[in-house]
Amino acid sequence: MAMRAIAALLILLALGSAELRKARPGGGRGRGRGRGRTGTVKRYAAECKEYSDAGDKYLDCQDRQLTAVKTGWPGDTSHLLLARNRIQVLRPNTFEQFNNLKSLDLQQNDISMIEEGAFAGLTKLTTLLLQHNRLRVFTEEVLIPLPRLRHLRIYDNPWDCRCALDSLVRHLQVPSHRNLGNYAKCAEPANLRGQKLKRMKVELLCPELQEENFPKGNLQQPTRSPKKNMDATTTCRTYMFPKPHLDCRSRDLKNVPADLPSDIVKMDLSKNSIKQLRAKEFVAAKDLKLLNLSSNSLDRIDTAAFAGLLYLRELDLSNNSLRFFQYGVLEDLYFIRKLVLGENPWICDYNIHYLIYWLKHHINVEYTGLVCSSPPEYSGWLVEEYVKTYNAECPKDILLGQTDGAQEVTMETEEESERAPPNLTTFKEFEITRT
Ligand SMILES: *[C@@H]1O[C@H](CO)[C@@H](O)[C@H](O)[C@H]1NC(C)=O
Ligand SMILES: *[C@@H]1O[C@H](CO)[C@@H](O)[C@H](O)[C@H]1NC(C)=O
Ligand SMILES: *[C@@H]1O[C@H](CO)[C@@H](O)[C@H](O)[C@H]1NC(C)=O
Repeated sequence: MAMRAIAALLILLALGSAELRKARPGGGRGRGRGRGRTGTVKRYAAECKEYSDAGDKYLDCQDRQLTAVKTGWPGDTSHLLLARNRIQVLRPNTFEQFNNLKSLDLQQNDISMIEEGAFAGLTKLTTLLLQHNRLRVFTEEVLIPLPRLRHLRIYDNPWDCRCALDSLVRHLQVPSHRNLGNYAKCAEPANLRGQKLKRMKVELLCPELQEENFPKGNLQQPTRSPKKNMDATTTCRTYMFPKPHLDCRSRDLKNVPADLPSDIVKMDLSKNSIKQLRAKEFVAAKDLKLLNLSSNSLDRIDTAAFAGLLYLRELDLSNNSLRFFQYGVLEDLYFIRKLVLGENPWICDYNIHYLIYWLKHHINVEYTGLVCSSPPEYSGWLVEEYVKTYNAECPKDILLGQTDGAQEVTMETEEESERAPPNLTTFKEFEITRT
C-alpha cells in the first residue's frame, strides 16, 4: 500500500498535475488502451483508488470533482464508484471500456441528461445508482443495453411526469422489474407531484391522449396511502461506500422502517425503540450481511422475522428485553456466524432450550452474552450450563442437547442415501429419533 502511494506521488511530481488533467482525446470510440499504457495507468492512479474485495475490483473515483469518465481507467473494474462528482451529461458509449462492470454508482452528481447509448456495452451491469441528480426525463431506450439490470435507483431527481416519461414509467412498472426505480416521485406537473413512478397510473402522463377515457376529475388523484411505518430512504441515511449501508441509528423508530432498499449489505437500527420484529420485515433486504438491533426494546421476535436473510452473517441483539427465542426463529439464518446476545433478561426455563439446541447444531456460530437473569437460582449462570444441569436430571431418551444419537442416525441415513434414494419410512424414523 505504502509503496503504491509513494509511486503515485512520484509520478505526480514528475509529470505535474496539469499533465494529469489533460482532457481525454476527442471522444468517440477510440481504444485508449492500445497505446501509452503506462501513461493511462498513471493518470487514473493519481485520480482514483483501486482495490479488490471478494474477487471483485473496485475503482473508487468518488469526490474527485470529475466532469467526465476518463478513457484510461482500467477496463476490468467490477464496481465503478463515481458518487459526488460534477458529471452533467452522459454521452453515448461513455462506459464502453468497462465490459465487466457489475455496479455503477453515479449518485450525487449534476446529471441532467442521459443520451441514448450512454450505457452501451454494460451487459453485466446489475446495479445502477442515479439518485440525487437532476434528471427530469429519460426514455426506456437508455436501459435497453442493460439486460442484467436488477437494481436501479433514480429517486431524488425532479422527474417531469409528462408524455416523455411514458416509456420509462411503463418499463419500471413491469412486474418482474421489482427493484427498478423504487421511491422515485414526480416533481412536475403540480397535480402529479409526489406520485411514485412505480405506482402511478401511466395514463396520467399523457392526459391529452386520453381525454375521452379520463374525465377531468380523475386527473387530480389524491396522493394515496399514508405510510404506517416510516420510509427507510427518508428516515435513514444510505451510504454506498465501502459497502451499501443503511444507517438508522437513534431515529426514535418504533418499527422496522418500510421499503428497505434491496441492495444494502449492512443495516444499523441500534438505539431505537423497536419492541417487536414481525414476520418478513427484512425480506426485501436479501443481501444483508450485518444487522444491528442493539439497544432497542425488543421483547418479541416472531417466527419468520428473519425470513429471506439468507446471507446474514452477524446479528447484534444486545441490550434488549429478550427472554427467549420462539421455536423456529433462527431457522432462516443459513449463514449466520455471529450472534451478539448480551444484556438481555434471558430466562432459564424450558423456553430457552430451543436456542441452546440450535446453537449445538450450528457449531460454527459464535455467540456472546447468553447469561440467565432469572429465575433467581440460575441468575448469573451461563445458559448452556443451566441446560446441561437440566439434562443431567432428565431421563436419557428425552435429552434435548444430545447430539451423539442424532449424529449416528444422520450417518446411517447418509450411507443409506448413497446406496439408494432414501424412502419415506427412513426419513420418518430419522425425524422421530432426533426429537
Ligand atoms: C451495534 O451498534 C452498537 C451501538 O450503536 C455498537 O456499539 C455495536 O458495536 C454495533 N454492533 C456491531 C456488531 O457492529
Ligand atoms: C442500552 O439501551 C438503553 C436504552 O434502551 C440505553 O439508554 C443504554 O445506554 C444502552 N446501554 C448500552 C451499554 O448501550
Ligand atoms: C423403505 O425402507 C424400509 C427399510 O429401510 C423398507 O422396509 C421398506 O420396504 C421401504 N419402502 C419402500 C417403499 O421402498
